[in-house]
Order: sequence, then structure tokens, then C-alpha cells
Amino acid sequence: MSNVDQAVDYDDLRGWMEQADRLGELKIVRGASLERDIGLASEVVGREDHGPALLFDEIPGYAKGLRVLSNIFGGKRRNATLGFADHLSKVELSESCYETFVKVARRIEPQTVSTGPVFENIIKGEEVDVLKFPAPIWHPADGGRYIGTGCYSVTRDPDDGTINVGCYRAMVIDSKTITILMIEGKHGQVHQKKYFDRGQPMPVALVVGGDPLIFFAAGTEAPAGVNEFAVAGGMRGRATHVVNGPITGLPFPAAAEIVFEGYMHPQDFAQEGPFGEWTGYYAIAEEEGVHTLRVDAIYHRDDPIILGVPPIGGGPDEMARYRAVLRSAMVKQNLIAAGVPDVTGVWCHEVGASRLFNVVSIRQRYMGHSIQAGLIAGQCGAAVYSNRFVVVVDEDIDVTNLEQVMWAICTRCDPATAIQVIHGTRTSPADPRIPPEQRATGNISNSRAVIDACRPYYWKDQFPKMNALSPEDLAEARSKFEYLLR
Ligand SMILES: Cc1cc2nc3c(=O)[nH]c(=O)nc-3n(C[C@H](O)[C@H](O)[C@H](O)COP(=O)(O)O)c2cc1C
Repeated sequence: MSNVDQAVDYDDLRGWMEQADRLGELKIVRGASLERDIGLASEVVGREDHGPALLFDEIPGYAKGLRVLSNIFGGKRRNATLGFADHLSKVELSESCYETFVKVARRIEPQTVSTGPVFENIIKGEEVDVLKFPAPIWHPADGGRYIGTGCYSVTRDPDDGTINVGCYRAMVIDSKTITILMIEGKHGQVHQKKYFDRGQPMPVALVVGGDPLIFFAAGTEAPAGVNEFAVAGGMRGRATHVVNGPITGLPFPAAAEIVFEGYMHPQDFAQEGPFGEWTGYYAIAEEEGVHTLRVDAIYHRDDPIILGVPPIGGGPDEMARYRAVLRSAMVKQNLIAAGVPDVTGVWCHEVGASRLFNVVSIRQRYMGHSIQAGLIAGQCGAAVYSNRFVVVVDEDIDVTNLEQVMWAICTRCDPATAIQVIHGTRTSPADPRIPPEQRATGNISNSRAVIDACRPYYWKDQFPKMNALSPEDLAEARSKFEYLLR
């Protein structure tokens, strides 16, 4: 057990909203249009570290009380969302997550209960109407209404019965049909392939308004066979209460806001997108057919809330910020579990959407240590999807400080000998740098650079000394001359 204090004081999205409100960080926006204003407002607040959470109500064309929430991860609520003290920096927050529930994976299995607020409203069969719910157009050039961004799909492995909870975007097609984009190799798609290979439909429970911790767990790579409800339980320190779906038997949170239950059939496809993706581009073409969910039932709370987490292109956004905190802790755990010694820091940079540009610092112990760390940091389970650059630095470099990292690259890395390029590595269809001819084959991969920006191990003791002041000299300089800056 760790000795880091953690207390998550909410169990569902409404409890989280009360907490954000107490912190003064929840703003209600009335009358914003679904087609434009909700996306524009979310873009403005989502770019800022301290932007408020937004709760959109009285959306024109929709009943009062049908609400959309965006920008959950920022401000003081950032640390509170994960249950940690306000004063921790983002790196300390990531370290606290590592110590509390990542280093030794803390998992608490969900607890099944007979009913819950999600069944306050039950709509079945002919009455099903997905269009009744406000699904925004998040970016002006998006090709559809995305009801699922801060969402997750619950599926069951037909072989061993294990449950997976994964976040895959979901677009409304018509009153009873929603696309769910499960990319090849994601655990939901692995389940789907097993059902479809047997000619069977796959049962799905799609949750589009849920608690932030389950959403974080659903959107971050856990090993296959691990139930993300148990991961979220571990993050919270207590079990998630789930009910079993009346049609599929799949579990979903008893306090979820809205759940669509039904089946994905092998022969069902629809046009999906384009959608402004996490890389900042529209890389997945509109014409690619995506499997759909036939919605057989809808369960929702009174005055339900859709959680929206739209990517914001071209720089750090909310998604990158929470993923940097969680993925950095997971990559550190993966490195240590793989036997890499003396890892002193890991940061999956927000500017690379916490996937594309990761930095690791080590205290070098032997020849080849830095390459070992770099290769594993780009290939381990928590990082393999869509990484492009890994930089390995000595422990005197702050992994979160891009200027220091670039200085280490500029001064300690010899391009001819210290950059390894690996080909054929795992990427995403959202990668804008896949050449058209490769994309057309459907067999996509990227390449990866491991940039060794450590002092070369075998002559590191002869490496020129740095001219930066020692901490003592710096303190003396500041105490004597800082007044010159005022
Ligand atoms: C907001 C958001 C949207 C995402 N959209 C998709 C998507 O459309 N398709 C996909 O395969 N992965 C998507 N991901 C990434 C997956 O959620 C992530 O890789 C997760 O680990 C998948 O779960 P799995 O490992 O159980 O397959 C998204 C993640 C987030 C946070």
C-alpha cells in the first residue's frame, strides 16, 4: 500500500459536478446551439489549463434538462477528480497516481446491484429514439453528430466471458442506429471479430454519460482481459455498482446517465465522420464504412447528461492533459515491470496528445541502458499505439520541460549514431502522416525514432562539464541580484 493520501468523494457524474461546483469551476450555459455553439465554447475553455467545466442546458430544439457537459479536466478540479490534494503539480499528481494505484495495479471488481437511477426511464422497441438526445457537432467541419466522445462501450469476450470497457467514438445515424468506431486491435474490436467470425451479432452497452474515472479507465490502454470497471474501482478505492442490462446481460453503472443497449451485426455498416481527431486533423476519411449498433433499448436518468470530450486540434487539450498524467504513470510502471532499472522520470507530452512524443529520464547504469529504456518506452502496452518519438535523457534533465529536453537533444545527441529508427510499428488511422498509397491498402504502420539524448555511456565521465551554476551558486546569485529584475 502507498502512503499517498487519496480520497475520491464522488461516485457518479452528478457527484463530480457537485464537487466542481463547490470549487467554483462549473459554469451553466443556456441556449447554446448544438450545431455550433457547444463546440465553439468547449474549444475556448478546453485549450486553457484553468478553463471551467461547462454544463449546457436549454439547448434549442431539446427539452430543458437534457444536458451536455464538457471540459471536466482542468483547474482545481483536475486533482480532485483523481482524489488528490489541490496543491500538487501535474507531475506530482502523476507520481501520486503511480504510487497509489498504478505501481501495484489496484483493481477493485465491480459489485452487481439489482437496480439504480439509470433505470428511471426505460425506452424499448418502437419507442427507441436516439435523436431525442442532444448530440453535438463538436467541430464546424465534422460530418455528423457525436453522442459518444466521453463515452464507453461494454462488451464481453465470447471465449472467456471477460468484460471490456473501451472508449470508442459514436456518431448518430438515425433514431435507432449509432456507429461505434472500434479500431483494429482495440479490445472491443477483438471481441467484435470473434462474434462476427462466428456469424453472430455482438451485444453492446454504450454508456454516453458516465463518471469521469470510468471514462479515463476506458480511454487508457489496460492489458487485454482486464475489466476497466475494476481499474476505475481501483482508482476510486471502492467498487463501482453495476446493473445487468435486461437485453444483453452486460454490466453498466447503476448511476450512469444514458445507456444504449443492443447488438452490432456483422452486415451493418454506415458512413461515419469525418471527425476532428486527437492528432488535430481529419485523417479518417468519411467514406470508410463503420459498424453500427442497432439500439434495442435506452435507459436514462431523469434530466440526463451527455459527457463530451471532443479533441481540440493543433495543441494540448483536455484529453492530452489527463492522459499525460495517467499515461506517464503507466509507462513508468511498464518500464519497471520490463526490467528497466533507475527510471527517474517519464512524461508523455501534451503537445503530442500524450502519445506521439514521450520523454524518459534514467540514471545510466550500463552500456545500452538508454536504448533499452527508449525502445521499451515506445513499445510497451501503455505507449505502443501511435507513438512516434521517444527521447531518453539523463536524470539531470526535467522530462516535462520541453526546452531542457530540446537542449539535451541539441547538445548530447549525435544524429548519426544516437537516433534509432524502427519501421512497421503500430499506428492509428487518425495518423495524418500515413501515405495515401499505404492507407489504401488498409495495412497501416508508422516508424518510430528513439532519440538517445543521454551523455554517451562509455565516455560520460569525460563529457564536458556544464557551465550552469550549481544550486548553491544559483541561490547566492538570486539572493544578491534578483532585485535587478524588479
Ligand atoms: C475521447 C476519446 C475518444 C476515442 N476514440 C476512439 C475511437 O473512436 N476508436 C478507438 O478505437 N479508440 C478510441 N480512443 C482510444 C481508446 O479509448 C483507447 O485506446 C482505449 O485504451 C481502448 O480500450 P481497449 O484498450 O480496451 O481497447 C478514444 C479515446 C478517447 C479518450
